[in-house]
Amino acid sequence: MSVSRVLDVVADAAPEIRAGLPERRTKAETENESGEAQLEADLWADDLLYDRLADVDGVNWYGSEERADPLTVGDAEDGVAVAVDPLDGSSNVKSNNPCGTVVGVYDEPLPAPGSSLVAAAFVLYGPITTMTVARDGDVTEYLLEGGERTDLGGVELPENPVVYGFGGRVPDWTEAFEAYVRDVEQELKLRYGGAMIADVNQVLEYGGVFGYPGLQSQAEGKLRACFESMPIAYIVETAGGASSDGTRSLLDLDPDGLHERTPTFVGNESVIEDLEAALSD
Ligand code: AHG
Ligand code: MN
Ligand code: MN
Repeated sequence: MSVSRVLDVVADAAPEIRAGLPERRTKAETENESGEAQLEADLWADDLLYDRLADVDGVNWYGSEERADPLTVGDAEDGVAVAVDPLDGSSNVKSNNPCGTVVGVYDEPLPAPGSSLVAAAFVLYGPITTMTVARDGDVTEYLLEGGERTDLGGVELPENPVVYGFGGRVPDWTEAFEAYVRDVEQELKLRYGGAMIADVNQVLEYGGVFGYPGLQSQAEGKLRACFESMPIAYIVETAGGASSDGTRSLLDLDPDGLHERTPTFVGNESVIEDLEAALSD
């Protein structure tokens, strides 16, 4: 089945991506579709994933942060589309902080609605390399080590929120969002590392909320729906949490473009409910 093959390919590629980072920490002198400087590591991880995923039977479309348009790579009648952020948080590579890889598997061509996600996964290149997979109503964490994938068990969001992390410069936040954060920080502990995958993974581990809000300078914020926000929302919601763009679940989005951005929030249901209430005031 193509979804299993996609996940296998990502699990096999991840240790290679990690091993290739030390020699690819410099800028590539190119920009991606979002206008961000690309690292050699971004381009290299994208090429590696493209080469392997395009080869999987049943993968019809490949879309990536590092490519302007989705590519048609197959012609199966019941094929899937794979959207990837080859290296999430790649600005952390220079300072040797964690980063990740994000994958969303959709059963519609890209850009696809969140409702067409059939699986999502991320790899976290932290002190150890793990892969977290949401599929068929369950989230499972795996250790990737020595060419082996070891099942570390099911992932469920803890009941009580503990940590929070929000992106964007504070003076660029909206007044309503800043007021919400002032409430959040009364209860929760700040943990922001600048790589969505690492910041989301600690929410899965400890409970809490991660977000990248709409900003005064950029109302849609920074994160892109197809290969960042919706796959992460699928994972967090499947683990028992909630997601929001400020008014509704991120899985209700239907982006017009592969690189369309959206305000992004994931975490415990109670914290996301408070967020939606605060932003609607
Ligand atoms: P990417 O490296 O794929 O472009 O993603 C970067 C994103 C995301 O990982 C993170 O949440 C956010 O950018 C951090 O942005 P700031 O540096 O503005 O905090
Ligand atoms: Mn990213
Ligand atoms: Mn990236």
